[in-house]
Amino acid sequence: VESLEILLLVLAIIEAVCIGVFVSLFFNRRKKISELEVKVAELGNSKDLAGSSDIDDNKYIPMLVHELRAPLSVIRGAADLLLKETSTLNKSQIEMLLGQIKNSSTGLLDLVGDILDVAKMHSGIFEVKKAKGSLQRLVNEIVSYTDPLIRVKEIDLTIQDGEDLPEFEFDAERVKQVFNNLLSNAVKFTPEKGSIQIVLGREENFAKVQVCDTGVGVPDKDKAKLFHKFVQAHNQANSKQKGTGLGLVIAKGIVEAHGGKIWVQDNKPKGACFVFTLPMGGAEG
Ligand SMILES: Nc1ncnc2c1ncn2[C@@H]1O[C@H](COP(=O)(O)OP(=O)(O)OP(=O)(O)O)[C@@H](O)[C@H]1O
Ligand SMILES: [Mg+2]
Repeated sequence: VESLEILLLVLAIIEAVCIGVFVSLFFNRRKKISELEVKVAELGNSKDLAGSSDIDDNKYIPMLVHELRAPLSVIRGAADLLLKETSTLNKSQIEMLLGQIKNSSTGLLDLVGDILDVAKMHSGIFEVKKAKGSLQRLVNEIVSYTDPLIRVKEIDLTIQDGEDLPEFEFDAERVKQVFNNLLSNAVKFTPEKGSIQIVLGREENFAKVQVCDTGVGVPDKDKAKLFHKFVQAHNQANSKQKGTGLGLVIAKGIVEAHGGKIWVQDNKPKGACFVFTLPMGGAEG
């Protein structure tokens, strides 16, 4: 029971950190919004500038708070039960509750990490740590222990990496995060028995990674927005999918911190192709 009390204390700390992050993110954004409003007034073109900015509304804050509350509620509920019913719960029930606490806090920490990354990107202090490595190996490794959903959905996944890429400097953890998000999106938005094709290649001095799927695709009007805002495309086919819409915002921040580019194009005959490039050589990006 003592250890449970320690656990509760840890959870209280996580909660406090989350609230702190939100308060600072909120005020930071309010500050940026007022700066922006001044610029907008100067230009006399309020609609266009506000519309093209990342920070033109706080609509996403309640949604993110909700995303934080859900796992916290699970954790609190499970911890409450463990404390109140200590004498009546059997071993497997206790393990089940502790498992819920562990999964929810892992999800929570991931989300808090994402929010911090986005906050750093917005304030221009996000950095990558580059070291020499093989992009080819990284991609193959991730694919080799991919999502069990690929099997469940009977998705046909292929990698095309004919061209030998030389080793070059990049931040492996961060690039993994980009690739993981593109792959998990492709899996998420591709229906059963669809296919995903990963193509690795080079274009001049840039390595180029493409993740193409035969899923619902991205409407033209949403193509640019996805990378800039906390949005999820509103086509009915994917409206039921879970997620915060932070993944691509972070992916763009990471790729650009390397000096690369990321974009989405249509796949033929259907689906989406998410593409990113990373500079391979010499000069710093
Ligand atoms: N392969 C894809 N096919 C169709 N739509 C996509 C695809 N990848 C992303 N999208 C659209 O872009 C939106 C944003 O994707 P993003 O990865 O940023 O967020 P998410 O996957 O919803 O949440 P998170 O990655 O934070 O869990 C998705 O909700 C979806 O509408
Ligand atoms: Mg995603």
